[in-house]
Amino acid sequence: MLTVIDVVNTKAADLSLKTIYKESGVELSVIVPTFNESDNVAELVDRLETLLKGIHWEVIFVDDDSPDGTADKVRSLAQMKSNVRCIHRIGRRGLSRAVIEGMLASSASYLAVMDADLQHDESILPRMIETLRRENLDVVVGSRYCTGGEIGAWDTKRAAMSRFATTLSRLIVVADLSDPMSGFFVIRRETIHRVVRRLSGEGYKILLDIFASSTKPLKFSEVPYTFRERLHGESKLDTAVLWEYLILIVDKKIGHIVPARFVLFSLVGLSGLLIHFAVLSTLFKVAQLSFVASQSTATLVAMTSNFFLNNLFTYRDRRLKGARLFGGLLSFYLVCAVGVVGNVGVSKFVFEHQHTWILAGLAGVVVGVVWNYVASSIFTWGKRK
Ligand code: GDD
Ligand code: MN
Repeated sequence: MLTVIDVVNTKAADLSLKTIYKESGVELSVIVPTFNESDNVAELVDRLETLLKGIHWEVIFVDDDSPDGTADKVRSLAQMKSNVRCIHRIGRRGLSRAVIEGMLASSASYLAVMDADLQHDESILPRMIETLRRENLDVVVGSRYCTGGEIGAWDTKRAAMSRFATTLSRLIVVADLSDPMSGFFVIRRETIHRVVRRLSGEGYKILLDIFASSTKPLKFSEVPYTFRERLHGESKLDTAVLWEYLILIVDKKIGHIVPARFVLFSLVGLSGLLIHFAVLSTLFKVAQLSFVASQSTATLVAMTSNFFLNNLFTYRDRRLKGARLFGGLLSFYLVCAVGVVGNVGVSKFVFEHQHTWILAGLAGVVVGVVWNYVASSIFTWGKRK
């Protein structure tokens, strides 16, 4: 509390605010994203407590409404320990976005990000924090691949996948990070605030996202550690992760020009074109059906295949299932039918004014694809209330 004299004398007020801040401000927030980690949270807090003596720290769990009641576990811990906090997100999933939300909830100078399952070796945390305090760096990364680090007991498939993803990351990050996939790092809060509006937020790879989103190269150093076995529960990393990773790469590479989802949508459209011509030539040339019958069937097959591919990949986070799949397919047919009308209308207009059939055809296709993309994102895969 400031006294009246302090407020009158602004210098003294500044000073006393500083003293209060130094005494009670949190220096380090440990951000821990969780999904079904109820058996791990208490153990993690215990270990942090032993390790972080002497630092003013807190831990912020960001839980996506885990069915196993992780958020309740965290809240009951928080009832006993004032430095434990819980951000409980409803109706949302996603590791990167959870981490971003946790980081934005902190006012500490340093933010550590780590998994809840104790695979990240917390014993290197003090060294990471010390390095960041001492040196003029943006971020200190826990690495499995720099000298002294290890990936632990991984099978060859997962190890190969991880190396492949690391190689791919060079497309969007120039920094010579040995482990850009790492989900274990300590970063200055100022640095996060500098990049946060440019973050993609897609998928799992928050560190990569941060590096790829910074306009100037980030100053970093690495601390080796050995990736451990999970204590309880299971990994949420499945094939979807690889797909989300590709979306992140596309988004970072060309997302400022066109949305990554539009690129996927167009790629699916391209596959539809190939399918269209395969069916058309088979029916018309080989099966000797009439042109109109062949063309109509080819259109239907291509539209159907586009719908399912988009549902599988482009909109995998909003994937339609069961009865909704059928309704979605019908709405997609309708959207495409309108798209065709637009396509033909525009190309006719351009053709009449320009007389170049290639330009006219192209204009029609572009209008058709953009319409299909926008309309289907609202009517077919739009968010339901
Ligand atoms: N809030 C939230 N939402 N948390 C999630 C979600 C989600 O959708 N998915 C996973 N998590 C949490 C898990 O509960 C865990 O604490 C952490 O994120 C990592 O998830 P795991 O399922 O354990 O991933 P992993 O062990 O296969 O991979 C981890 O380690 C790799 C190496 O460091 C991840 O951190 C990878 O990003 C990292 O490359
Ligand atoms: Mn894990």
